[in-house]
Amino acid sequence: MTKRGLSERMQLALNAQIKAEFDSAYLYLALAAEMESRNLKGFAHWLRRQWEEELIHGLKLYDFLLQRDANVDLHALDKPKVDSTQSALEIFTQVLQHEQYITARIHELYALSQEEKDYASQTLLQWFVDEQVEEEDSAREIMENLRLVGGEGASLFLLDRELSQRPAVGADDE
Ligand code: FEO
Repeated sequence: MTKRGLSERMQLALNAQIKAEFDSAYLYLALAAEMESRNLKGFAHWLRRQWEEELIHGLKLYDFLLQRDANVDLHALDKPKVDSTQSALEIFTQVLQHEQYITARIHELYALSQEEKDYASQTLLQWFVDEQVEEEDSAREIMENLRLVGGEGASLFLLDRELSQRPAVGADDE
């Protein structure tokens, strides 16, 4: 049922997006474990930071629903798809494709908020639109670097070291 301020469609869509963000978190946590098992600790560290980012995204939507006096309806999460035969390049291609999928979802949500003339949701979703530009950019950069180094040897080791420097979530927000 709809409570004040937020349409039924918007509530359903935002709840579905909470799931998508927590699914993303779960995927990155699973991929972090995969990288850790290959002793690529920098990649694992980067993915674990990404897991934290996704939790923050999910919570941002969750808090927004509560602030709008709307229903929070948490869904069951998907089992993450991890293929241990994939190269690091294939894994980061998967990460980029996943982010592109999330971007498409965010754009649909933004269009819905416009259709519904829900200006508060629109403002929130503008933040996500901008965030997705960064999310895709950082995944693409790692993928391109992996393509350049061929995904092996000393260059892979150096890239792994570089990724281990990713700061804590919020530390680079200034
Ligand atoms: Fe929350 Fe990486 O999208």
